Amino acid sequence: MRFYRDLGLTEFYRRPVDQTLLDAMQTAHAVTQTPATIAAPASPGTFTQTALMEEHSIPPRKSLTPQPEIAAAVAPADRAAALEMIRQEIGDCTRCTLHKGRSKIVFGDGSPQARLMFVGEGPGADEDAQGLPFVGRAGQLLNNMIAAMGLKREEVYIANVVKCRPPGNRTPEPEEANTCSPFLFKQIDAIRPQVIVALGATAATYLLGQRQTLAGLRGRVHAFRGMQLIVTYHPAFLLRDPRQKKEAWADLQIAMRELGLKLPSKG
Ligand code: URA
Repeated sequence: MRFYRDLGLTEFYRRPVDQTLLDAMQTAHAVTQTPATIAAPASPGTFTQTALMEEHSIPPRKSLTPQPEIAAAVAPADRAAALEMIRQEIGDCTRCTLHKGRSKIVFGDGSPQARLMFVGEGPGADEDAQGLPFVGRAGQLLNNMIAAMGLKREEVYIANVVKCRPPGNRTPEPEEANTCSPFLFKQIDAIRPQVIVALGATAATYLLGQRQTLAGLRGRVHAFRGMQLIVTYHPAFLLRDPRQKKEAWADLQIAMRELGLKLPSKG
């Protein structure tokens, strides 16, 4: 029960989703501009572009560039320095047009020795202002998800496909994601976590290099650069459709099983 509570699932199993509550959450979201979405829904029950993408369609990736070669393993004691070198390589980046609208580059956050890494889509307004990933409303839910797994945020590592905020929190364009993702791959190779959780379709697409619906990728373990990768819903999507938290929790439990973490007892 505690795990469900931590995930905010109380509403889910007590009663059907309250549309008024959902609408209020969506409005709050539109104001803080935290999630990587484009516009508020046109009518109740209509999802934003990202939410629709999560549910039904193939992510908008036109060309899949080959993934970079896997870098040599970095000793745990050297991982912080390796990450710092990657950060220095990024510098005051102007490689794609996203730099024009950013306040801060959002490199990543967490333990260089993490066994678990989360990858999101791109910074929102709060992240852009603070230079840290997942610090807005979606970040609060991600923190709850991490806590429900029995972990602390400082124990995991969190990064995004793109490191600069897309205007209006739109989905990153393929050119932007393809320009930025090599640095994400370097971060992943430096940390070499045992398990990566891809949050949403954009992260799943650019990590796995596969054009598939989220439904086709969720619920199983993918082999990824010698690591294990699990796909689940983006927290921003879960804020919009809390009914899917149960499915997300099932995905997180797959990650927990792979990490050897204690699973909640049933009932
Ligand atoms: N959404 C993301 O995908 N990443 C963040 O860092 C914040 C919101």
